[in-house]
Amino acid sequence: MMSSTRATPARGLKLALQLGVLMMAVGCGDPYRDRLIDGLPEEDPNFQPGELHRPGQPCLACHSAYGGAPDFSLGGTLFSGAKPTETPTMLGGYTLRVYDSEGQSRDMLSNACGNFHIRRKDWDPAFPLRAELYQDNPAQPGKLIQLTIMSTRIAREGSCAGCHIGHPSPLSPGVVEVPGTTPSAVSDACPPPWLGPDPRAPVQGLK
Ligand code: HEC
Ligand code: HEC
Repeated sequence: MMSSTRATPARGLKLALQLGVLMMAVGCGDPYRDRLIDGLPEEDPNFQPGELHRPGQPCLACHSAYGGAPDFSLGGTLFSGAKPTETPTMLGGYTLRVYDSEGQSRDMLSNACGNFHIRRKDWDPAFPLRAELYQDNPAQPGKLIQLTIMSTRIAREGSCAGCHIGHPSPLSPGVVEVPGTTPSAVSDACPPPWLGPDPRAPVQGLK
């Protein structure tokens, strides 16, 4: 006997079309990127979306053709060092230098909330990339002193927080930090840093 509720091909097509419209309404349907964006906190109401917002977060999740915010080729946040029990604080005034595979380089100065970025229209680097950290030379203004370099290469990820999240763990080298520095008092001049899905989790990045 034929049940009247059995899906007919026409009904199946209608359902697929409805689902398609629904998916276009909630996102473009990249499950990895949607989960990444959904896992980030809401915008802090005390700060406008702008150069000081969302410290520690993977900027390009949103600042990309996919995410809809102005397109960046690189973005990240610089922090102090911190013990596992401490929260690192954001550090401004240091220079992140990135070289691309064609030998071109750009400098990004970390701002008052540790953030730095480059718009894709200003530089669209050829991966893989090399990252280096510098500080000003007080004795010779305009000259920089190299503090540390990332010894491996960045193959294709433009968000430093694509890898650098929270405290060091088996899945992350930890936030990009200035060696030899320690956290300072918490200030309300910046939003609190995002340190990963769960900063106390023994292994980060998994859900
Ligand atoms: C969850 C999404 C999201 C993340 C993550 C994010 N942003 Fe944004 N950002 C936005 C949105 C949305 C705007 C507002 C865009 C607009 O006004 O058109 C914005 C605006 C900005 C602006 C001003 C844009 C302009 O054209 O002047 C800057 C600068 C900026 N963000 C930097 C960053 C940096 C640096 C990071 C990473 C540390 C970051 N953002 C992380 C969504 C995000
Ligand atoms: C694909 C993952 C990945 C991305 C993306 C990434 N890094 Fe790294 N980074 C690492 C790893 C792993 C290390 C530790 C090993 C090493 O030095 O290569 C590291 C180390 C570093 C160090 C040296 C840290 C120290 O202990 O002194 C700096 C500085 C650094 N990264 C800066 C950056 C900056 C700036 C960005 C964004 C432009 C970035 N990294 C993006 C994986 C990444």
